[in-house]
Amino acid sequence: MPSIIEELKHGFQSAIIAAFGADYADVDPLLVPASNPKFGDYQSNLSLSLAKQLGDKPRAIAEKLLAHLQLSDICLPPEIAGPGFINLTLKPSYLETQLSGLNKDSRLGVELAQPIQKVIVDFSSPNIAKEMHVGHLRSTIIGDSIARVLEFRGHDVLRLNHVGDWGTQFGMLTAYLKEVYPSALDTADALDLGDLVTFYKQAKVRFDSDPDFKETARNGVVKLQSGDTETLKAWQLLCAQSRREFQKIYDLLDIKLNERGESFYNGLLPGVVEDLDGKKLLETDDGAQCVFLDGFTNKDGDRLPLIVKKTDGGYNYATTDLAAITYRVNEDRADRIIYVTDAGQANHFAQIFQVAKKAGLLPDNVEPVHVPFGLVLGEDGKKLKTRSGDTVKLQDLLDEAITRARNDLENRLQEEGRQETAEFIENVSTTVGLAAVKYADLSQNRNSNYVFSFDKMLTLQGNTAPYMIYAYARVQSISREGDIDFQTAGKDGTILLRDETELNLAKHLLLLAEIIKTVEKDLLPNRLCEYLYELSKKFNRFYENCPVLKSEEPIRTSRLILCDLTARTLKLGLFLLGIPVLERM
Ligand code: ARG
Repeated sequence: MPSIIEELKHGFQSAIIAAFGADYADVDPLLVPASNPKFGDYQSNLSLSLAKQLGDKPRAIAEKLLAHLQLSDICLPPEIAGPGFINLTLKPSYLETQLSGLNKDSRLGVELAQPIQKVIVDFSSPNIAKEMHVGHLRSTIIGDSIARVLEFRGHDVLRLNHVGDWGTQFGMLTAYLKEVYPSALDTADALDLGDLVTFYKQAKVRFDSDPDFKETARNGVVKLQSGDTETLKAWQLLCAQSRREFQKIYDLLDIKLNERGESFYNGLLPGVVEDLDGKKLLETDDGAQCVFLDGFTNKDGDRLPLIVKKTDGGYNYATTDLAAITYRVNEDRADRIIYVTDAGQANHFAQIFQVAKKAGLLPDNVEPVHVPFGLVLGEDGKKLKTRSGDTVKLQDLLDEAITRARNDLENRLQEEGRQETAEFIENVSTTVGLAAVKYADLSQNRNSNYVFSFDKMLTLQGNTAPYMIYAYARVQSISREGDIDFQTAGKDGTILLRDETELNLAKHLLLLAEIIKTVEKDLLPNRLCEYLYELSKKFNRFYENCPVLKSEEPIRTSRLILCDLTARTLKLGLFLLGIPVLERM
């Protein structure tokens, strides 16, 4: 079913042609949701924008348009306001019909995309032998939500974990372990990720200070890249170690990912460089092979190079990403490739997209998108750190969220004099704690930095996960109280919208499809959060104003349907954010 705004636009387009002729067929009706409810639901300032072209007064243009506008099934008679704005108010009867349609639709009006695309979402992507940090957490949460939205729209989504599992760091690490802890290189489980990180740091210090060690480490990389069995085995052990730790986080957060790390592209790297060379794009700069970029200059105004083969003959992060693009275009047949990383990598992606286009690796019909996000800050406004100044471990952070959610819950149970099973407490605290972390991240515009505050994200008031889950549980409590099975209660019932708060809730429920489409396009999950927050506020206003269980039929059933539709919308919306609901909390 077309969205309301699409139907209105359609009506306007016909009226424009009827009033001003086919030359105006492509004119945008400039229709937007009204800024203030006193102007109705939608507003168009088309007549103002056409005034010059048509050489007529905006109000006169508006009148001509209205003479041809056939929207009486959808709207009350349109009004001309001020200098010539056209204000539209939706008809209750129209909203009632639309809402009945929504009620019968398990997808709540969200159609499958046409045509569907093959979309790669490259997200999370931590680095082996390093701790997964809050930046990776943001990527994981945002990437998962984007993938969910695209999947729900029917796209063929490939979720890829581009883990950093290749390169100098392994030569360094294996060389160091060979010296200090050789058994780690041939025994599974000899180390956990924490040890690995410590060894990595020590190895780095050696690498930077000891030229002989540096040489050994370099040889290690060469051995790895040339497929030396012993080195490969050691590398695999180290990867397995890290992978297990990462998986714990993914399991906890219910994240599905396919690992295809940097090493996957190793064999393709020489080909990438040869290809660039064949296309006459390579230049030698200080012994390194590079492509010079347009639009990227240093402070003297000289063009900057993108290095694809280092002076020592090794390949780097950029070469790997160029190989990955080629593979994703040719083998995966991607239509859209989405990379979710911190904003600090914006230049990297702009550069590799540019080079890939120049080299013809990235055809025009494939859309590469970098989805950047800001930093996670502590409550002091600085980069998030532990009290001792170390980087925060994700596992600790998630555990703390769960513990705090449990404390809040136990306090609440005591205040309310409620007795609940240990299982209930465990389930509610885990769900709420993790949901709070996810929602706090997703509800911010990802482009900005956000302040990580357990207190704020866990409160039951405001734009938080606990508030949203509570709103859902509240509707479920209505069905329990009235002993109502929503599955059967309202399926054939008629919807009647009389109260102002019912109309407002209904209009908002009908906007879901539109919102999902915007998220699909702009890849900003915070739009969905805002929508859901508004929805729960509108529901609360309705619920305060309109008795549900105590009202008479047929109003009672109609209101129950409104409750059920609200709950289903919240559940679906939260699902698309990677957040499960609770029937009780
Ligand atoms: N491993 C990188 C990091 O930790 C992120 C990789 C993102 N994906 C990519 N194709 N470059 O910053």
